[in-house]
Amino acid sequence: MFVNLVFLTLVGVTFVMVYASRVHWSIPLAFLATVPILFTISTVLSRRVKVIQKVIVAETTALAGATTESLRNIELVKSLGLAKQEELRLNATTDKILRLELRKVRYIRSISFVQGTAVNFIRTCILLLMLYLIFQREMSVGQFFALLFYSFFIFGPMQELGNVVNIFRETEASLANFDAIFRIPVDPKPRDPVAIDDLRELSFTGVSFTHATGSTPALADVSFSARRGETLAFVGPSGAGKTTLVKLLVGLYRPSHGAILYNQVSNERVDLDRFRERIGFVTQDAQLFSGSIRENLLFVRPSATDAQCLDVLRRAAAQSLLGRAEQGLDTVIGEGGMKISGGEKQRLSIARALLREPQLLVFDEATSSLDSLTEEEISRTMRDVTATADVITVLIAHRLSTVLHADRIFVLERGRIVEEGCHDDLLARKGLYYAMWRQQVGERRTVTAAPLAPGRTPLPSGAIAG
Ligand SMILES: Nc1ncnc2c1ncn2[C@@H]1O[C@H](COP(=O)(O)OP(=O)(O)OP(=O)(O)O)[C@@H](O)[C@H]1O
Ligand SMILES: [Mg+2]
Repeated sequence: MFVNLVFLTLVGVTFVMVYASRVHWSIPLAFLATVPILFTISTVLSRRVKVIQKVIVAETTALAGATTESLRNIELVKSLGLAKQEELRLNATTDKILRLELRKVRYIRSISFVQGTAVNFIRTCILLLMLYLIFQREMSVGQFFALLFYSFFIFGPMQELGNVVNIFRETEASLANFDAIFRIPVDPKPRDPVAIDDLRELSFTGVSFTHATGSTPALADVSFSARRGETLAFVGPSGAGKTTLVKLLVGLYRPSHGAILYNQVSNERVDLDRFRERIGFVTQDAQLFSGSIRENLLFVRPSATDAQCLDVLRRAAAQSLLGRAEQGLDTVIGEGGMKISGGEKQRLSIARALLREPQLLVFDEATSSLDSLTEEEISRTMRDVTATADVITVLIAHRLSTVLHADRIFVLERGRIVEEGCHDDLLARKGLYYAMWRQQVGERRTVTAAPLAPGRTPLPSGAIAG
């Protein structure tokens, strides 16, 4: 619009001005006076358009967010009988947007009216001026008609210019958002990054971290180190900072204090993209993509063969899932495909982590949605993987039975490591770990005693130390 209108107006205005100045000096001045008048009216009046548009954009974004949320949680919404309530809420937002849009349209129409009236008024004034000049014999009738027609070149686009200003105001609101997004600082990358192709050791030295929106540090002064072949476990109450620790470990966050060293190279200097290719990560909330089982696996390693895929699925105890899948690896899961349970999702994401043949394997509550038999099976897999494949394994679990075999267990409490050692040492210390263990063993005992639990795995030896 800017190119079309402004360019056309400029050409027209220049032409008419030159011609008018040759007829009489006062006419170009009258034409010129229209520009500041119209410009001021448009700019001042259209300011409110921006204000309204800003609210409309914010409300529309909120509506899109709310709709996505309620659709994603449709099961919760329906099961709690909240469908009607959600519907009303979404409709209320839509209504609000409609009202704002109407207000904006009404306002823009008012602006157009004022602009049009102003243009017509100025036009009539110029007409009167020219008529006066004819009567004064300073201008011929021919020149009068020529100028009358030429003035269309000026006033037509001029009126349109008002619309451009209005559209610009509307766009300005969105442009401001766009600008804010672009002002978000990019993740700093090291100048000459060190590639970690073979992760041999890993250490945290006095690492502290506070979330951007957190008031207290999620991790405080955490130090530990691990070598290839070792298994570390982090346990502790909910909110102790275990997930935060893992996110720091894979480079999603940067420590506020202290350093994370990969092969003695500080996290500031490591090429994280390259390093992450060595990581197998099973997150607390397993995330899969819609697509086939194969696509979900190949996602992390496009070159894997079917045999490798089947092997990792077997190791992750996901055969039962494959048994249900009619088209084998090509079976589509998720949206529009086979629905899978929370546990199956976890098993698939474990298989995905294993397929990468990583050097650093991270399991954040990887077995929390599995029954204890499957959990035992997967724990065995994890133990096998860590024993045979030369990897650093980091385990996080609430169920302590899954971390028994770890070389070192760290107990986190409110972001600090409060205890550290192997299972037996920690039990002997009779601290927080011992308390947690006692409680879980107590729970398990009651479960094992129940008559309907045939084949339940007995507790590992040494488990009932307390
Ligand atoms: N994105 C975030 N912004 C602000 N605070 C956060 C964020 N994520 C976590 N926290 C806070 O940091 C602390 C540690 O959280 P974290 O998720 O690491 O706990 P966790 O030990 O993994 O707990 P859980 O066992 O329940 O998974 C908590 O107090 C939590 O409220
Ligand atoms: Mg967590």
